[in-house]
Amino acid sequence: MTEPTRGPRPATWRDLRARAEAALREAGVASPEAEARWLVVEVSGWSAPELALAGDEPATARGGMRLEELLERRCAGEPLQYVLGSWSFRGIELMVDRRVLVPRPETEVTAEVAVEEAQRLGARRGAPDPWSGAATSYVVADLGTGSGALALALAAELPDAAVWATDVSEDALAVAGANLAGAGLPATRIRLALGSWFGALPTSLRGGLRLVVSNPPYVAESEVADLPREVVDHEPIEALVAGPNGLEAVEAILAEAGDWLEADGTVVCELAPHQAEPAVERALDAGFVEAFVRPDLSGRPRVLVARRRG
Ligand SMILES: C[S@@+](CC[C@H](N)C(=O)[O-])C[C@H]1O[C@@H](n2cnc3c(N)ncnc32)[C@H](O)[C@@H]1O
Repeated sequence: MTEPTRGPRPATWRDLRARAEAALREAGVASPEAEARWLVVEVSGWSAPELALAGDEPATARGGMRLEELLERRCAGEPLQYVLGSWSFRGIELMVDRRVLVPRPETEVTAEVAVEEAQRLGARRGAPDPWSGAATSYVVADLGTGSGALALALAAELPDAAVWATDVSEDALAVAGANLAGAGLPATRIRLALGSWFGALPTSLRGGLRLVVSNPPYVAESEVADLPREVVDHEPIEALVAGPNGLEAVEAILAEAGDWLEADGTVVCELAPHQAEPAVERALDAGFVEAFVRPDLSGRPRVLVARRRG
């Protein structure tokens, strides 16, 4: 009797991960092991812990083909977040593609500072009460919302806030709109508006904003050459570059904010560490009585707080 012939062992999820890691390392990706795990989680349809347990199971043909597509894009330099198509920001899953900037960890700090400033002004922090509907008692604005990251974080963490999310880019607002649609109850308190900074808002809001938060473009034209290729080649340049000196957008927001804020309102604005001193000066020149810059997770000055009342 002849032995049944055995074909080659089918590839397991662990094999796919090893293959992805090798390809990413070869392409010069900085964290090949971690990224390979992200990509295989994405194509397998399992969560990371599930995948850890199912590593020796045969991978699906569809998963293997999808992994090849994603690897090709990532190895060609496209940011991991665009390749995956979504990224988490303060626990909110956001759809991202090249129409919007990838939400950064330092912007999570900006969101935290904004929520703390709102609390300081008397706002309640916490999960929304499912029975309160969309009742709101004050208004905040996220200028230059991009994917909607800051607006969604504020709506999720400040249950009584009405949130305006603006952008000058129609493409960005389309992405923000998709993210609102997937975000459930808090998103029903967010309104999107197209236009440049405060110009996007209805004039009825003049003098009525408790808080303005923004992560505006703050790269100077002369600094573009120093940005990583991954950023310059894939992320929207108008989301990054402010103008010749890099502070133009921060200045524009500070100059107009006084007309739009309540008497004790506050601006919270992300910037580059080397802009901290000039930004504080601009805020005081614009009539804010108190201005300082809070650090990011690595201790660099990053988030301008400008208060109309100390
Ligand atoms: C650095 S990105 C920040 C995106 C998002 N808030 C975040 O933190 O991930 C800056 C955003 O500002 C928008 N923007 C640029 N100029 C603007 C302007 N004059 N008025 C309103 N938004 C503007 C860009 O389209 C982009 O979405």
